[in-house]
Amino acid sequence: MKVAVLGASGGIGQPLSLLCKASPLIDELSLYDVVNTPGVATDLSHISTPAIVKGYLPAGDGMKDAFTGVDVFIIPAGIPRKPGMTRDDLFKINAGIVRDLVKGVAEYAPKAYVLVISNPVNSTVPIAAEVLKGAGVFDPKKLFGVTTLDIVRAETFVASLSGEKDPSKATIPVIGGHSGETIVPLFSQASPKVDIPADKLDALVNRVQFGGDEVVKAKDGAGSATLSMAYAGFRFAEKIIKAAKGEKGIVEPTFVYLPGVPGGEAIQKETSLEFFSVPVELGTSGAEKAINVVSSANEYEKKLLQAAYTGLKGNIEKGIEFIKNPP
Ligand code: NAD
Ligand code: LMR
Repeated sequence: MKVAVLGASGGIGQPLSLLCKASPLIDELSLYDVVNTPGVATDLSHISTPAIVKGYLPAGDGMKDAFTGVDVFIIPAGIPRKPGMTRDDLFKINAGIVRDLVKGVAEYAPKAYVLVISNPVNSTVPIAAEVLKGAGVFDPKKLFGVTTLDIVRAETFVASLSGEKDPSKATIPVIGGHSGETIVPLFSQASPKVDIPADKLDALVNRVQFGGDEVVKAKDGAGSATLSMAYAGFRFAEKIIKAAKGEKGIVEPTFVYLPGVPGGEAIQKETSLEFFSVPVELGTSGAEKAINVVSSANEYEKKLLQAAYTGLKGNIEKGIEFIKNPP
C-alpha cells in the first residue's frame, strides 16, 4: 500500500505524514510539496516503523516520481483561512492547486483513491471530478471529500454535553458539505442514542457547523485546524485502506459524486445535488454504497438540510465551472 501526501510539508501535511509513517497498514509513503519535503521525509525516515518514506519537489520529474505507483492520495495542499475569511475565499488559489495536482494523478496513477482535504471541499471535489472526467479516468467510487473532522467534532461536542468519557464511541452522521450551514449533523440518528436538551440543540448544531471558525479565531492569524485535521484525515484514510484490503462493514460519511455511487441516485433525487456527503459503505473497490439518511431526518434537521442544499448548489457549480470554462 503506497500512500502519497500532497502538501506534506504543511500544517496538516506533517502530522498526517507522521501518522501514516506510524501505521502498519502503509508500506510506502511518498511526500510531495513545493517546499521542504526532503527534510520532512528524512526526519520521518528515522522512525523505526516499516514504511519507506521518500520526499519529492516538483522540479524535474518530481511529480511523476512522487505519483507513480501510488494507491491512495491524500491532498491537504493549499492555503488555509485567516480570521474573517470564508472557505470560499480560498477558492482563487486552491482551485488551481487542486486542479494541477489531480491532473498529475490522472496522468501517473489514474486508478488511485483520491482523498481531498484542501478547501473549499464543496468546490475542490467537483474540480477533481471534472479533471478526472476530462482525462477519461474518473472512478466516482474512488473520489472522496474528507469531511471526517466534522464528525470528529460532533462526537467530541456531544460527549462534552452527555458526560460520555470516550467520545469516539458515538456514531453521529454529519452530512451535506464542509462549510458553515452546509454541514448538517443528524443527532436524531446517532448511535447509541443521544439525548440533547432542547435548549442546547441550536448551540450544539452551530458549534459543529462553525467548529472550523473556532480554531481559526483561536489561532489568531496562524492558520486553521491542522492537528485535529491530521487525526481526522488519517482516520478516514485508514478506513479506506482497511476496506481496500478486504475488511467488511466500514461506514463513514464522506463527500461523494452521488450518481456514480450505488444508492446515490435516490439521494441525488432528494437533494437535487450531484455531490453530497452521506454515510458511505466502503469496500475493496471504494465507495460501494451511499446510505440514504436524508429521508429519515426529523423536521428540525430537514430545515437545516434546506439551507445546506442552497449553499452547496452554488459551491458545486463554481467548481465545475472552473474546469469547464476556465477563468
Ligand atoms: P499550510 O499552509 O500549513 O500547508 C499547505 C501546504 O501545501 C504547504 O506546505 C504548501 O507548500 C503546500 N502547497 C501549496 N501549493 C502546493 C502545490 N501546488 N503542490 C503541493 N503542495 C502545495 O495549510 P494547512 O493548514 O495544512 O491547510 C491545508 C488545506 O487544508 C487548506 O486549504 C485548509 O483550508 C484545508 N483544511 C481542510 C479541512 C477539512 O476538514 N477538509 C480541515 C482543515 C484544513
Ligand atoms: C476546518 O473545518 O477546521 C477546516 O475546514 C479549516 C477551516 O478553514 O475552518
